Amino acid sequence: MNFDYLKPKVTEIVSNANETVINRLYEICKLLEENVTHYDWVGFYFKNEDKDELKLGPYVGEPTGHTIIPFGKGICGQVALSNENFIVPDVSAQANYLACSIDVKAEIVVPIFKDGFNIGQIDIDSKTRDPYTEKDEHFLEFVCLSVSKIL
Ligand code: SME
Repeated sequence: MNFDYLKPKVTEIVSNANETVINRLYEICKLLEENVTHYDWVGFYFKNEDKDELKLGPYVGEPTGHTIIPFGKGICGQVALSNENFIVPDVSAQANYLACSIDVKAEIVVPIFKDGFNIGQIDIDSKTRDPYTEKDEHFLEFVCLSVSKIL
C-alpha cells in the first residue's frame, strides 16, 4: 500500500478553516476508511479533560460501546500511558483488549502529541488479520502530526 497520494488530501482537510475541527477530524476518518481497504473502523480518542480516561471523538464504522476508556485498559488505554504506537496483528492473542465487534482481527493505535503531551490517538480496526506494517505507522504518524496542529 502506498499512502503518499493520501497525504496531500489529509493536509487539505486539516487546513480547511471553513469547517469545524470536529468535522475535519470526521473527514479524515472518512478519507482513511474509504481509501484503505484494511481500515474498517477509524476513529479518534482524546484525553477527557483532567481525567485519566479517553473519550471517543469522531469516527467512521460500526458504533462502539467503548465511548470512555480508562487509562491502562485495552489497546487504547495502554497507548495513553506508553506514548508509543501499538500494532496488534491478532487481537485474539491480546489479554488487555476491549472488543468492539467479533469481526475485528487486528488493530493499530498511534498517539497524538500536542506540546509534548499525549492528548489522544487515532485508533484503527481491521477485519483482516495482520495487515499493518511500518508504512501504516509512518502514514498515521503523519496524520497525527497534521491534526495536532488544529487541536
Ligand atoms: N479495541 C480498543 C477499543 C476501542 S474499539 O476498537 C473502537 C481497545 O482495546 O482499546
